[in-house]
Amino acid sequence: MCGTNLSLSRGWSCISASEGVGDEIMKVAIGCDHGGLNLKVSVKELLNALGHEVEDFGCHTPDSCDYPDIAVPVANAVVSGQADRGILICGTGIGIGIAANKIAGIRAALCHDTFSAHACREHNDANILVMPGRFISTEEADMILTEFFSTQFEGGRHQNRIDKIPVK
Ligand code: RB5
Repeated sequence: MCGTNLSLSRGWSCISASEGVGDEIMKVAIGCDHGGLNLKVSVKELLNALGHEVEDFGCHTPDSCDYPDIAVPVANAVVSGQADRGILICGTGIGIGIAANKIAGIRAALCHDTFSAHACREHNDANILVMPGRFISTEEADMILTEFFSTQFEGGRHQNRIDKIPVK
């Protein structure tokens, strides 16, 4: 069933969070460097259409900037509970994800596809979705984000593994 109709702006018949699971409205901290700016604009459009509360930590212009300056505030927002989830985008997704994962309690997952988006939520309880602004399309990002927000953590053996990740 179609929950949110983005057909006019995206060419999709519908983008829908899975019934029951992805309907929860979340506070989302989002950020990018210059390599992720275009994709971030489009991702924010989808988040707003899905009804999420979005806080944008920059960058806001195409001028060159340094991804840790964005990754750290977004990661801190998630760890502090100011945001339920984070989204980070740089050119490759690599630098901004590395920086975010230095913050204790962050599990930032770089996703190029919906399988990774599903698995990082189900198995790793990822709390930040990282995407590569220069290597995926707007449509791919829509699907990755929808999967990330509609997949629940499975817990159990996966929680045991997360508990073994050093956090300090
Ligand atoms: C910026 O040119 C680029 O290095 C950055 O967006 C990212 O890909 C780094 O990991």
